[in-house]
Amino acid sequence: MKITIRLIVSLIFVVALVAVVFSFYQVSNENDRLTDELKRRTIILAESLQETVKPLVHSNSIPKLNRIVERFGNRERLKGIIVYDNQGNVLTSTPDLMPKISQPLPDALSSITENRPIDGFITIDGRRTYIYVLPFSDEEEITGALAIFHDASYIDVRLKDIWENNLIRFLTLSALIVVITLLVVRWSITGPIAQFAEWMRELRAGKGKSKQPIAFSRGDVLAPLISEVTHLAKSLSIAHAKAEEEARLRVQAEALWTANRLKEHMRVELGGKKLFLISNREPYMHIQDGSSIKCITPAGGLVTALDPVMRACDGVWIAHGSEDADRETVDENNKLRVPPEEPAYILRRIWLTKEEENGYYYGFANEGIWPLCHITHTRPIFRLEDWVYYQKVNEKFAEALLEEIADEESPLVLIQDYHFALLPLLIKEKRPDAKVAIFWHIPWPNPEAYGICPWRQEILIGMLGADIIGFHIQFHCNNFLDTVDRFLESKINWEQFSVERGGHITRVNPYPISVDFDISASERKDIIQRKEQLLKEIGVQARYLGVGVDRIDYTKGIPERFRAIERFLEKYPEFVGEFTFVELGAPSRTHIKRYRELMTEVEEMVDKINWRFRTKTWKPIVFLKAHHGHEEINRFYKASDICMVTSLHDGMNLVAKEFIVSRDNEDGILILSQFTGASRELRDAVIINPYDIEAAADAIHLSLTMETSESSERMKRMRAVVKEHNIYRWAGNLITDLARLRAADISG
Ligand code: F6P
Repeated sequence: MKITIRLIVSLIFVVALVAVVFSFYQVSNENDRLTDELKRRTIILAESLQETVKPLVHSNSIPKLNRIVERFGNRERLKGIIVYDNQGNVLTSTPDLMPKISQPLPDALSSITENRPIDGFITIDGRRTYIYVLPFSDEEEITGALAIFHDASYIDVRLKDIWENNLIRFLTLSALIVVITLLVVRWSITGPIAQFAEWMRELRAGKGKSKQPIAFSRGDVLAPLISEVTHLAKSLSIAHAKAEEEARLRVQAEALWTANRLKEHMRVELGGKKLFLISNREPYMHIQDGSSIKCITPAGGLVTALDPVMRACDGVWIAHGSEDADRETVDENNKLRVPPEEPAYILRRIWLTKEEENGYYYGFANEGIWPLCHITHTRPIFRLEDWVYYQKVNEKFAEALLEEIADEESPLVLIQDYHFALLPLLIKEKRPDAKVAIFWHIPWPNPEAYGICPWRQEILIGMLGADIIGFHIQFHCNNFLDTVDRFLESKINWEQFSVERGGHITRVNPYPISVDFDISASERKDIIQRKEQLLKEIGVQARYLGVGVDRIDYTKGIPERFRAIERFLEKYPEFVGEFTFVELGAPSRTHIKRYRELMTEVEEMVDKINWRFRTKTWKPIVFLKAHHGHEEINRFYKASDICMVTSLHDGMNLVAKEFIVSRDNEDGILILSQFTGASRELRDAVIINPYDIEAAADAIHLSLTMETSESSERMKRMRAVVKEHNIYRWAGNLITDLARLRAADISG
């Protein structure tokens, strides 16, 4: 209210000032104008009267003079006339006038003496009167004077009117100012502020979150304030929502990890530091597609799992640029920001020669360590030249990483997989302050199996350079500690699960990797319609659909799976013509003989089984040999009745978890090998031994005939597991453990 009164008083004061100044000006103008007019009229009258009066004075015709004075004395506003002789004596006068004028009249005497007209104002009967004295003469001397008395009080009346009119105008204006100011202030300021305050009060109390703030037009006096406060309110709402969400999650056993939570967690834990990630496989590959360049994401769990983490955390991912258009898409520092559609982190590509790629990747990593760790009856091959390249490429990646972390204090480094067993030590030797973890995505064998590697000690020493070594499951951690115990001089703490060697401690922990459980990404659609559409696309008529998604790798148990399907159709012939299995198989590591042989074996098996059972409109197996994008794979996941994961040995297997995430209709069966890391978590899958063809065939039958109520219960439970144990939780746990290592632990 105070502001309104101040505004009104100020406005009225200004208006009053303006009114007074203008009134003065107007009054003075009017006064001048009317006075001039009065004088002009009086002079004209005096001069014309003088012509008549002069001869009569000369001839001393007093009666005639009396008549003339009487006649003129009756005029409007003319008070009277007096005629004087040359001594200033009154010759004649308007009758009423004489008693009111003291004689002799000084102005008359002066006018006669000085022979000039004299005028002025006197007061008669309390009214202002204008007096004009005009002397007249014959040829030689002054013979008399004529005095005219004119009423001037009408001028005062007129001036008073002006003052009064202006006062009324001022009062009216003031009243309008008061009313308009009150309305404007109410509409534009106090009203909205009151509304706004109410909205903020509700917000503070946590009630107004859903309400929108009052809309203000552009340029409105409060608009900038509103926009700022709206911002503030939004942050408040988000903070409220987060706090509520956190509180809700705290009620559950453990809080749910999300991309945002990981981001926030990283901010707190790392204080804004970047994450440095190294893997052989790059998350985005550029390939020449005719005359254009195509960007694809590679098959395999590593990228599926880690791309969301890097998106959430930012940082630098260093990887081998293996594809034909990779060089064309980087800058002069071999870097680019990815993902292409929504850049969130940096990918730095490392170039390898053909020899390096052959020796390090195809040779030592995939013909040596891969079969060594998987134990799937494919004999590992260890060549000295491969080992030399393996060391060389590890050094090459170490150099690139050391360059990237040169300006970082205690950087966090996450090394991925069996391609870089030597990298942890190479980094720690140069940067003891770096916090280094290596995550081993494949199984770790028992010491006997591992012991056949000619460079078994070098590999272990290289890995133990890390502060943390991660495996998917405890069983692999145990195998690793057993292996270290067998082949290296070191102190193993079985309670802490750590190895101390040369004063440096390495913790060995399980971190079961997972996928992003992004519910919003999956849309609900009619499952039957979806299945029909897919079957139409692949040219098959069937009632039941099964799916398998793999790199064509001998560890995935693909021939075993097909054998199980064949046996299922033999055992349960009622499903012939009814059940089709689609294998989405991505060719992998095809420069390696064993992989080429496997591809041939798989294709021949598909041909054989299809030849045996096919009908005109149906076949049991559709082998789609290609690299398939996430979207396409998802379509098959969503439309299938069952998904088969039959690995002979697998660190985790993320296909199993991806299938579960895609099943937002909470149905569908997962047939899962007991030799996958995933089988430890997904206990509601139909668990099989993929080598046991008879049991696997029965598992397919069980899955296809299972009551919907049961399959749905199982899927719900598995979805709850994957939702909680998602990739952000994996990253959150691993990064937290790494970030919280004390300086004493890492200095070694
Ligand atoms: O499963 C082990 C693994 O190295 C994954 O980490 C990776 O996603 C997959 O194999 C793919 O292998 P590559 O990069 O050789 O195609």
